[in-house]
Formats: sequence, C-alpha cells, structure tokens
Amino acid sequence: AHGKTKPRLIACEGSFHGRTLGSLALTHTPKYREPFLPLIDVEFVPFGDAAALARIMRDDVAAVFLEPVQGESGVQVPPPGYLRAVRELCTRHGSLFVADEVQTGIGRTGAMFAYQHEDVKPDVLCLAKALGGGVPIGAVVMTEAVAALLKPGLHGTTFGGNQLACAAALAVLEVVTQPGFLERVSAHGAQLQAGLRRIFPEALAVRGQGLLIGVQLPSDPAAIIRAGFDHGVVVGPAGGNVIRLAPPLTISGEEIDELCARLAAAKAAV
Ligand SMILES: Cc1ncc(COP(=O)(O)O)c(C=O)c1O
Repeated sequence: AHGKTKPRLIACEGSFHGRTLGSLALTHTPKYREPFLPLIDVEFVPFGDAAALARIMRDDVAAVFLEPVQGESGVQVPPPGYLRAVRELCTRHGSLFVADEVQTGIGRTGAMFAYQHEDVKPDVLCLAKALGGGVPIGAVVMTEAVAALLKPGLHGTTFGGNQLACAAALAVLEVVTQPGFLERVSAHGAQLQAGLRRIFPEALAVRGQGLLIGVQLPSDPAAIIRAGFDHGVVVGPAGGNVIRLAPPLTISGEEIDELCARLAAAKAAV
C-alpha cells in the first residue's frame, strides 16, 4: 500500500519464512532461495542485533519481518530487549513489525505467542503449525489499521476459511487456553532441557524457550537423529549442527523422562 514511499523490506540473517515467492524472498538461507532467484528485494540484518537494524532503519521501510525465536537456523533465542527495540524502531519509522510465529506461536514457547515474553505487540502475526494441531491451517492476524488496507476479495485462496480446519483450530485453542497449560509447557521445557544437558554433556549449547529446544553439538547430528528413529524418537536437524526438539505441547513429565531415556539409548547406539 505504501510501495512508492516505503519500498524497503527488512528481514534477518538466518531466517526461514517459507518457500512461496514472498516468504522465500524473506528467507535468508541460500540453499532455499538461490534456485529461485530473482526474488523480491529484501535487506538482511543480523538477528538479535538491534543496533544493526537501527543503522539501516529509515522512514522508507515498509516492514521488518522476523521470527521471535529463529527455528530453522538452530533455535536462536535473541537477547533480552531485542523485540522491544525492534518494536520501538518500527513505531518510530512508521514501519510494520511482522512477527512470523509459524513455529513459535500457540503455546510452543510457554506463552501463547513468543512476542509476549517481551510484552510487545507486532502489527502483523503469522501463524500455522500448532494452530491446527496437525490439520493444515494458517492465519495472518493484524491490527485494525493494517486490516483496513485489505479490502474484501483482495486476498483469497481455494481452501481459505475451510470449516474443518477452523473447527480443528478452535479445538486447539480450547486446550491451549486452559488454566495452567502454558505454565506446564514452560515447566516441561525446563525438565527437557535439564535431561538433554545430562545426555549431551559435550553440547556447545542447549537452548530454547518452552518446548522449542535446540541442542548444538560439536559435529553433524545426522547419525544420532537417524538412531533416534530406531528408538521411536522423532527429532529434526536445524542449522549449525543442532538437534531441534519440538514435542507435542501435551507431553507429560513421564513422557519426557521416556523421551530422554530413548534419546540416550539412541546416542549410545551411534
Ligand atoms: C518460522 C517459519 N515460518 C514459515 C514457515 C513456512 O511454513 P509453510 O511451509 O507452511 O509455508 C516455517 C516452516 O517451518 C517456519 O518455521
């Protein structure tokens, strides 16, 4: 809407926003973007570095896009105060703050949305993954002011507004908003991080928020991840030799103990 006066888009190094044209343009990782060049122009700044963003912010920036915790690049948690600084810069320059919470939203980090850990509000919020509890649904949530820029019919999709998917999302929200649910996610995250530190004393870092956890190992974790499958544990790789764990938010304390025991056995089998 402000294309002429605000042509610039900013995203973060290490970002992953998806593989469709717009989100791929915002994705920093060369292996995803390079096969599809040319893409929309996006400027990238180091993630977690508010001073670097401040140096390039001007009133011609339409929007700043970021993941409050970067997932694909290895579960990177920004330093305290970063999201607040981004919010302030965006407000000062009349730019939109777009939080991609596809991976972190709906309870994953122990808050409904990860931006709440810093008590800030984005102008636009992207949701998917946990929102459907396994049923495919995504949502873009925005302030009234941003929504006013979108007239009915401007955006649409064949499966948008699907009743089955919306019913699944409502069921998920009913569970996640139950009293104590998010506190349990945080407590279980702490329990899992402690277990992982015991299993991987050689880890360069065990970090995360809530039940989104990364174990950064000194070398490629592929063999351990493969052995995990043989022991009934599904974990995935992320950037920088990281094993990423994102278990169901409904996992119990006993199940975390079992997960740790199985992961320890998988590691021993490598
Ligand atoms: C932060 C983030 N944004 C966007 C996406 C892409 O979602 P989709 O593949 O549904 O387009 C992902 C997928 O992993 C993600 O982690």
